[in-house]
Amino acid sequence: MGWVQRRRDHGGLIFIDLRDREGIIQLALDPDRDLASLKKAEQVRNEFVLAVHGKVSPRPEGTVNPKMKTGEVEVEISELRILNRSETPPFMIDEYTEVAENIRLKYRFLDLRRPVLQNNLRLRHLVAKTVRNYLDEQGFIEIETPVLTKSTPEGARDYLVPSRVNTGNFYALPQSPQLFKQLLMVSGFDRYFQIVKCFRDEDLRADRQPEFTQIDCELSYVSRDDVMTIMEGMMATIFKVAIDVEVALPIPRLSYTEALDRFGVDNPDLRFDLELITITALVADSQFKVFADVAANGGLVKALNAKGCATFSRKELDGLTDFVKIYGAKGLAWVKVTEEGWQSPIAKFFTADELAALNRELGAEVGDLLLFVADKPSITNEALGRLRGRLGQKLGLTRKDDYRFVWITDFPLFEYDEEEKRHVAVHHPFTSPLEEDIPRLDSAPGSVRAQAYDLVLNGSEVGGGSIRIHDPAVQIRMFELLGIDAAEAREKFGFLLDALSFGAPPHGGIAFGLDRLMMILTGAESIRDVIAFPKTQKATCLLSEAPNEVSEKQLQELGIRLRARQK
Ligand code: AMO
Ligand code: AMP
Repeated sequence: MGWVQRRRDHGGLIFIDLRDREGIIQLALDPDRDLASLKKAEQVRNEFVLAVHGKVSPRPEGTVNPKMKTGEVEVEISELRILNRSETPPFMIDEYTEVAENIRLKYRFLDLRRPVLQNNLRLRHLVAKTVRNYLDEQGFIEIETPVLTKSTPEGARDYLVPSRVNTGNFYALPQSPQLFKQLLMVSGFDRYFQIVKCFRDEDLRADRQPEFTQIDCELSYVSRDDVMTIMEGMMATIFKVAIDVEVALPIPRLSYTEALDRFGVDNPDLRFDLELITITALVADSQFKVFADVAANGGLVKALNAKGCATFSRKELDGLTDFVKIYGAKGLAWVKVTEEGWQSPIAKFFTADELAALNRELGAEVGDLLLFVADKPSITNEALGRLRGRLGQKLGLTRKDDYRFVWITDFPLFEYDEEEKRHVAVHHPFTSPLEEDIPRLDSAPGSVRAQAYDLVLNGSEVGGGSIRIHDPAVQIRMFELLGIDAAEAREKFGFLLDALSFGAPPHGGIAFGLDRLMMILTGAESIRDVIAFPKTQKATCLLSEAPNEVSEKQLQELGIRLRARQK
C-alpha cells in the first residue's frame, strides 16, 4: 500500500511508482496478466492511495534502473484497489523539486511525505529514544512538569494564558522547567530528566522557534565535572547511534575568557583555526589615530589573518566591512600582504618597525589578507568573531560532517544591562557563583564567575546549564544583586525560597536544545526542517493559521477587552 509517485503509460502497459515511508517501488500492469487492474490504473494520478497484490520479480533485461534502490525489481500486479483519490498536489512529493517555504508550510502534511523530512523526523525519534535509554541507564527518571505555570526568567518574554476561573490572572507557559526541576531535587528524586516543550516569545532566527524542545536534566550531589562527564557520554552515544560518528572524549573545555580572547564569541566554531590576535599594545603609539585612540581609551584592537585571501576584490572587502558594521564596528581595516609589502589604505601610518612587529605577531606571509577592528572590547570581539565565522563558511572550512564539540566554562555571573541600568544574570538567577569568587559578590560583582557551562557544537550553542544555589541566603543575596528586592523575590519565587530552606541538596543540571542538535545531525539549514509542525519567523502556523482571533464570548468569559481589534 502506498501513494502514487507517478504513472507512465507505455503502449498498453502501465508503470506506477508506489511510495511509502520506506521508499519507492515500481508496479508493472500488463493487460495480459490482469486487465481489470490495468483499467483501474488508467484513472490513477499522483498521490492516489493504492493497495496492490503482485509478485516481486526481477525487471526484464535492459530495464534495470541503477539510480533507484529498488531498481532491479518490480511488482507484477495481479490486483489493484484504489483506497483513496487525491487532488492534484500543489508540488511534487520528491527531494528534487524546489518549493517556496510558505507553500510547504501551508501543506505541511504533504511536505512531510517527502523523504528528507521523513528521514529527519525518524532520526529525531531515534535520538529521543537513545536519550531516554541512556539517561534511564544512568538512573534518571523522566518526570513531567506543569505547562500552565508561573513565569521563570530565562531572558525571553513569556507566553501568557488567561485564567477563566481566576479572572484577571494569567499563567505563563514555561520558558524552561527550571524551578520545577530544582524542586524535584528538593523532593529527593536525585536524577531527573524530561524531553519537554519550552516556550519563549523572542525574535526568531534560523535556529530559534517560539516553542522548542529541551532535553532537560537535573542531578543532586554533583560537581560541574560530574554533569559534564555524564552529558558528554550522552552526546557520544547519540552521535554513535544516530549517525555512526565517534565523539572523542573528554570534550575539550575553554573558559569564557579564553573563548572571547581567541575567537571573539562564546560559541566558537572549532572546525577551523583563524584565531583572533590582540594587537592593542603594538598599535598604541602608532600614527593611525583610529587604533591609537581606541588603545588610549581602554578599547581593544584585534586582527585576523585570512591566509591566502589577498586575492579578495574590492567588492568582497566592502561586503566584509558592511558585515562587521552589523555588529557595531565603525570600520574594517584591511591589508593585502604582497611581495612589495603592505597594500592597504592604512599602510602609510605605520613605521617599518611597527610593520615588522605586526607581521610577526600575525604570522603574515605574502598572499595573506589581514583584517582589523578597533573598538570597545565587546564590539571588537563580536564583530571580528562573527567575521571569523563568516570567513570560515566563505572559505569552505565548515564541513558538515565534521563535528567539533567544546565546553565553555566560567561564564561571568552577571552582565550589565545598559537599557535597564542594572546587572542581569548571564545564565539565570539560580546559578551558583564559583566558590572562590563569592567574596567579590559585593565589591566587584562584574568579576564574579558562575559555575555555568555551555556545550557548543560547530558554532551552535546546543546546551547550557549550571550548578545551582542551594543556600536560601545566597539565593536572596543573588536576587538583591539583580535588583529584585525581598518583597518581589517572595512574590515571584517564594515557593523556591521555601523549598531551599527545607534541606535542599546541592544540585545542578543542564538542558540541551533538541531541535538544534537535530539540525546538526541531519545537516538541515533551518530548524523548521527538524520539527513536524513548525512556526514561521513571525511565529505563525501557516497550516492551522494560528494565532487567530477569538470570539467576543470567549473574551468576555476571560474578562478581557482588547485595546484594539487587529484588521
Ligand atoms: P538555556 O536558556 O540555555 O538554558 O536553554 C537550553 C538550550 O535550549 C536551546 N534553546 C532553543 N532552541 C530553539 N529555539 C529557542 N528559542 C531556544 N532557546 C534555547 C539552546 C540552549 O542551549 N533552564 C536552563 C537550563 C539549565 O540551567 O539547566 C535553560 O533553559 O540549545
Ligand atoms: P579612514 O581613515 O576613516 O578612511 O579609515 C581607514 C580604514 O580604517 C578604512 O578601511 C576603515 O574601514 C577602517 N576603520 C575605520 N574605523 C575603524 C575601526 N574602528 N576599526 C577598524 N578599522 C577601522
